[in-house]
Amino acid sequence: MNETGHSEEYFGDYRDHWWNADFVNLIAQRLNLASKHSALDVGCGLGHWTRIIAPHLAAGAIVRGVDADPKWVRDAPAWTATMRDRGLDVRVEYGDALSLPFADASFDFVTCQTVLIHVSDPQHAMREMLRVLKPGGLLLCVEPDNLCATTMRSSFGDEFTSKECAEGYEFALTIERGRRVLGRGDHSLGGLVPGYFNQVGLQQIRTWISDKAIPLYPPYERAEQRIIVDGMKAWQQADDPARKSETRGFFVAGGGDASQFDALWARDVENQARYAQAIGAGSVVLGGAALMCLVSGIKPNLSPSAEADVARRA
Ligand SMILES: C[S@@+](CC[C@H](N)C(=O)[O-])C[C@H]1O[C@@H](n2cnc3c(N)ncnc32)[C@H](O)[C@@H]1O
Repeated sequence: MNETGHSEEYFGDYRDHWWNADFVNLIAQRLNLASKHSALDVGCGLGHWTRIIAPHLAAGAIVRGVDADPKWVRDAPAWTATMRDRGLDVRVEYGDALSLPFADASFDFVTCQTVLIHVSDPQHAMREMLRVLKPGGLLLCVEPDNLCATTMRSSFGDEFTSKECAEGYEFALTIERGRRVLGRGDHSLGGLVPGYFNQVGLQQIRTWISDKAIPLYPPYERAEQRIIVDGMKAWQQADDPARKSETRGFFVAGGGDASQFDALWARDVENQARYAQAIGAGSVVLGGAALMCLVSGIKPNLSPSAEADVARRA
């Protein structure tokens, strides 16, 4: 799996501000999470999603996390201990979402957050999640459509021509498509998840989007604004050759013209530097929303082929 060894780039403090607590309460009620006695968080990382969702499960629920990066498995006791203090039995083990180290029909509830976007074959991962889910069990996948952010207006982008905006989107889309072609995931697959659920045979599919936004407006004083702004500054300074080379590979695999790449990259880097300056000058205003899709479905009591068989005989 490609992320092993450098998935730490995904974990910033901003992850602690991804959800509105009352929205999570609402989702927990809609999905009746309080009836779930065993749960698995696939690609749990440092447990940001586990910690949000586990308190809504049945009292004394058994919670397992699995991750393909050994570093997160090693670091897990630090955060799982705090959950045990709250009466939750949480443990993390090493494993691949494409070949989960659990027996069939082990869990009432299986979930993941921002993991399918990283795997080479998301439907394969879903079938694995289905396999370890008990019949009648609940699957909840939470995945973003990151390309949406490329088209959101901000005060900074208002100075670009429509052609420049369109070129920026085309650059991002080409990179995204190339990532998928190379089996490195698809950072914008959130909107495709309901269709995947249907294809793998889940029933009662329900889809929501998160209501969380982190609007930016000067002087960026709120704690979550400060975290976002600091993260943007750090990320925008990271014009490292390894990232450039990787992005070139995605761009070309996505059908981009290799001879155009250096100029497009340079423009992107320049815009990022200007953006950082504008943030520093306190002149950037934006809505700060991310399209995060929450998709749930129920594992049928029979396999789809057995159901079809039953229907044929009826
Ligand atoms: C963006 S992080 C999300 C972590 C956590 N779910 C959260 O929301 O904070 C993606 C996580 O998925 C893990 N991961 C990526 N591919 C995986 C795979 N094939 N099997 C298991 N874990 C995987 C990475 O190691 C990383 O911890």
